Amino acid sequence: MAIRKIRVEGDEVLRKKSKEVKEVTQKTLELIEDMFDTMYESYGVGLAAPQIGILKRIVVIDVTGEDPMVLINPEIIERSGEQTGEEGCLSLPGKSAIVTRPNHVVCKAFDANMEPITIEAEGLLARAVCHEVDHLDGILYRDIADGPVHDVED
Ligand code: NI
Repeated sequence: MAIRKIRVEGDEVLRKKSKEVKEVTQKTLELIEDMFDTMYESYGVGLAAPQIGILKRIVVIDVTGEDPMVLINPEIIERSGEQTGEEGCLSLPGKSAIVTRPNHVVCKAFDANMEPITIEAEGLLARAVCHEVDHLDGILYRDIADGPVHDVED
């Protein structure tokens, strides 16, 4: 268990494409545990591996504080509806912007045992899944925001 350093915008690792995970090793499990620790420590609802400098297709999400979810090699296979709201990111600390996302997504992935899973997500969870999957392709919410990125206090 360890808190890892969160990379912030400007770090080129955030703009790279992450690689598919072929197998889950003990090291992978430690990485996942560290990702959860790092996310909770910063009061985030999601974290993608590149945000701690690891270019692997792994994300962790917990939008309620009670529903930890790990998605390995996630792939969004359905998107529907629309939601528009403020979105933030641990890699853009103290900032947010209005971002429009699908309100409903279906996502295929693998769990920590490399068993295939399919999740359906709505609202905030759908937003988090889209946001974290974007990180795996080097996309930050700034790229798709409806308006300027601003200080949260504004
Ligand atoms: Ni983010």
